[in-house]
Amino acid sequence: MAATKNQLEGRSSTCVRKYRIFVIFVGTILCVQVYLAYSFLRLENQTGESSPGSSREIEPGKSERNEGLPEGSYQLKLPPDKPLNSPKTSSQIHSNRTIVKLDRQSLNFTPICDVTGREAVSAVSRAHTQLCKETIVNITCMSQMGMLYPEQLHSSCPHSTGFRDIPRNLGCFKDDKTQRILSGYYSILKGVNSPQHCAFLCLQSGYPYAGTEYSIECFCGVEEPPQTKRLPDSSCNMKCPGDLKQSCGGYLTINVFKTGIKKFKAQEARNSSVKTGQETPIRIAFLLTVNGRASRQVKRLINILYDPSHFYYIHVDARQDYMYREMLEVEKKCSKKNIKVAKGSGLRHASIWGGASLLTTLLTSARQMLQHSKDWDFLVNLSESDFPVKSNAQLVDFLTLNKGLNFVKSHGREVQRFITKQGLDKTFVECEARMWRLGDRQLPKGIQIDGGSDWMALSRDFVEFVTDPQPDPLVSGLLQVFRFTLLPAESFFHTTLRNSIFCDTYVDNNLHVTNWKRKLGCKCQYKAVVDWCGCSPNDFKLEDLNKLRNTAEKNLFFARKFEPVVDQRIIDKIEEWLYPERYNNSIMKGYDRYWQSIYHHADQTPLVDDTALTISISLSRIIYSKYDTISSHIRLLETTGYFESNKFKAILVHAEVDIKGFESSTYQNDFPERVEGFIVPRHQFTTSKTWSRRIRHLEVNTDYDQKEQMFRNFLGGIGPLSSPILSYEFEGSLVTPRNLTVLWIDPRGNCVDVNHLQVEEMSLIGSLKPQLEEPLVIGEWQVVLMTDSLVASHLRFLVTPFAFWKNRRITPRKARELHNGPRERHREYPEIDSKWLSILKDANVKIIGDKDHRNFTENRVGVELNAWIDELVEQFYRVDRICLGDDSRINRTTKSPRKCSLCDWSSMSPDPKADTQYLGGI
Ligand SMILES: *[C@@H]1O[C@H](CO)[C@@H](O)[C@H](O)[C@H]1NC(C)=O
Ligand SMILES: *[C@@H]1O[C@H](CO)[C@@H](O)[C@H](O)[C@H]1NC(C)=O
Ligand SMILES: *[C@@H]1O[C@H](CO)[C@@H](O)[C@H](O)[C@H]1NC(C)=O
Ligand SMILES: *[C@@H]1O[C@H](CO)[C@@H](O)[C@H](O)[C@H]1NC(C)=O
Ligand SMILES: *[C@@H]1O[C@H](CO)[C@@H](O)[C@H](O)[C@H]1NC(C)=O
Ligand SMILES: *[C@@H]1O[C@H](CO)[C@@H](O)[C@H](O)[C@H]1NC(C)=O
Ligand SMILES: *[C@@H]1O[C@H](CO)[C@@H](O)[C@H](O)[C@H]1NC(C)=O
Repeated sequence: MAATKNQLEGRSSTCVRKYRIFVIFVGTILCVQVYLAYSFLRLENQTGESSPGSSREIEPGKSERNEGLPEGSYQLKLPPDKPLNSPKTSSQIHSNRTIVKLDRQSLNFTPICDVTGREAVSAVSRAHTQLCKETIVNITCMSQMGMLYPEQLHSSCPHSTGFRDIPRNLGCFKDDKTQRILSGYYSILKGVNSPQHCAFLCLQSGYPYAGTEYSIECFCGVEEPPQTKRLPDSSCNMKCPGDLKQSCGGYLTINVFKTGIKKFKAQEARNSSVKTGQETPIRIAFLLTVNGRASRQVKRLINILYDPSHFYYIHVDARQDYMYREMLEVEKKCSKKNIKVAKGSGLRHASIWGGASLLTTLLTSARQMLQHSKDWDFLVNLSESDFPVKSNAQLVDFLTLNKGLNFVKSHGREVQRFITKQGLDKTFVECEARMWRLGDRQLPKGIQIDGGSDWMALSRDFVEFVTDPQPDPLVSGLLQVFRFTLLPAESFFHTTLRNSIFCDTYVDNNLHVTNWKRKLGCKCQYKAVVDWCGCSPNDFKLEDLNKLRNTAEKNLFFARKFEPVVDQRIIDKIEEWLYPERYNNSIMKGYDRYWQSIYHHADQTPLVDDTALTISISLSRIIYSKYDTISSHIRLLETTGYFESNKFKAILVHAEVDIKGFESSTYQNDFPERVEGFIVPRHQFTTSKTWSRRIRHLEVNTDYDQKEQMFRNFLGGIGPLSSPILSYEFEGSLVTPRNLTVLWIDPRGNCVDVNHLQVEEMSLIGSLKPQLEEPLVIGEWQVVLMTDSLVASHLRFLVTPFAFWKNRRITPRKARELHNGPRERHREYPEIDSKWLSILKDANVKIIGDKDHRNFTENRVGVELNAWIDELVEQFYRVDRICLGDDSRINRTTKSPRKCSLCDWSSMSPDPKADTQYLGGI
């Protein structure tokens, strides 16, 4: 249990010497209480904070009082081990402690040891593949046998090597409860306390002094104890529980030791006020690790960062075909050849949030960068959601003055607290695209642990040091530790810097401003891929412009996150601010437009959502239906989300007719070979008069992003296996609190769920997830919001049948299985149905749907299925405009549509901000 100076002081005021044990007991409880309150309050503070430069990537959401975790650390609960349902675990009650053992019979292999940890057993039973289970078992066994990690590592920082074996004893000192001799950190080490143990702990936290007191207490501090407090050694007369031959202080007496390190002091970056003008400008190697489909934003970032003297290395996640192809284009177009894209399986990796493989990706990329370009001085790491907030010239000036330094951002809190929150004291294994938590571990002794943000600017020397194929023992030891670490890049570089000869090049500033809004960003949103809860920063929006402008005087050069689908105006503003001439010259066409690909026919991975594919293909048929083409020859090329003036405007569907499929050329002039359609989802909600000014937005969709409070499914397709969510936004004029009832009515006219929505002043924006049985009934659904038997609002949404399953044409069997609604209705609410339905009737809401059709089987396949889909899709999407592909051979008449390249909205129209054509060559 950690406590800081304040609590230690607080704990003493009630002390009465006579009842030593009692007082210490009461004191400890008080201390714990105060600490709990303190950590709780601190947590509250942090959730509200969003201070620039703050860099902690992981942060608990709520406190949770189980699993023996330190207060305040919020860890994802493992699914309960159900002895009945999961035959793989068997529990034995041993006194009052449950020991969970792995059931060997349930495995197809013989584990190399008895796996007993609860977390490891749970991981093995949750993993699916043999390989992953075996890896988990092997790693757990290695860890149990103490063979996984180096026990001790040695620092090569010249002035902070740390003690070896035994810390230097400074003698026995008198301690004082109101004024601790060592006041940095405090811990109770029951059963294990010893000078060595305590000194390693203090060393790990970066303290030069360690002290043992009252047998079980360990104190750490920065200040050397004054000789005036020195006592004869005999005053420290209590035995150490961890080493009975040694004494561990006494009542208010403390044995003090030196940990062998100096108090760490980060370097101050030199800034322009001391510029001499003599230096040769440094060169930067940008490492862009990109993911997702926002290729135009990445191109825009490259455009703004581009300089022929720098080097750009682009790593695209191995699964992201689309982005990869787009980046290859960028590489190809760059005439100066200083942009390189990582290619091939050895150099391209797939990473998950927090995954251990991320470090491998970074180090292999860094090695490549050293090979490809001999003359860069700094490696600067960016992602698709970063954007500069200073000009390139400013960045180069600054780094030129600071050549040789390393820019990282530290967590800035108690180290032990950082370790537990970050999960550094746990072994994690990555497989099946998940980070599995396997249990506790001991970090190597003898080194200081540090971490923080994984965005950084590193000097070439340091990059060479960490990527050396024959690494230094410190680096190889740390690499072994970080192979099994969550969020490895957030600690590996920091820790290596502090314990190596580079310890005096550490600058506590990663040049980044990060937009932390912890209330939104800490929703444990990664639990699908990680056995842990982490936080993510929010996107900057236009209203944050001042916050960014305020960084002008600070050594901050980049900000994150930015996403044009969330807010492109802020990106435009920054560009205008940094490069007014560039911006003014061009008043660039299409500046307030943005396109983001949803599907491209060449994509192999990741699989596209089957409903999105079904709807896109249906839309291409609908577009071509104007031309009487044979639908089997229509091919979908690309689906794009189109944004204008910062709003989602339309879905663009680019399709072609496969001319080669025709036997004669007689058709050729009758229809365009390629078209792009501008498709608008039909507005689907109506509001009663009294509520019309109270409801700003209502939508049912999937992929709700809680952090940005928006749906990421721009196409809006909902399939039989989707989990629809209702998002709402009420106007501030709404009198709160208000209770609303939300009715979900399926296409058969059944009321299948009723939710109660309490709208408070603080929760005018939010989302609601109904409990619906899968597969959802195909067709038009209705959602009705009611207040006191009055209809406030009414909206419709479509559940589309699948034409595809796992991106292949659906088989009749699968279609039958998925297109008939839930196999049987488990929850019958006849009373609810009749009550609500009569209210709706009174309110004049027409309930479509036919109860008699409850048991009809939907057997449609092939052409019939497509026709069914098209009929449904046409009710919910409208083809507003069409343009012709430029290579179209159709004979233009005045009535025929315009060419796509001339239509501002088309994905084929010019987009100068994302045009990398002239890189290096104007
Ligand atoms: C529970 O365990 C603790 C230590 O492990 C032991 O001291 C205590 O007696 C146990 N209690 C019971 C009820 O077995
Ligand atoms: C686990 O360890 C065993 C024995 O050392 C070895 O044969 C097996 O290949 C290992 N499996 C994995 C997945 O590492
Ligand atoms: C670099 O950037 C990525 C994000 O794209 C981040 O996840 C990674 O940890 C960063 N770290 C380093 C050291 O490059
Ligand atoms: C530049 O350095 C001076 C002196 O060290 C310091 O007072 C000032 O705050 C620094 N400016 C920036 C932007 O860091
Ligand atoms: C809303 O409902 C809750 C219980 O569901 C009730 O306690 C509360 O008083 C209601 N509020 C209003 C304004 O009706
Ligand atoms: C529903 O099923 C019952 C019995 O299986 C049958 O008698 C009835 O005709 C079916 N109704 C419809 C509309 O198919
Ligand atoms: C356009 O139509 C004219 C006359 O109808 C025809 O002569 C010409 O070949 C057509 N052009 C193309 C490209 O098909």
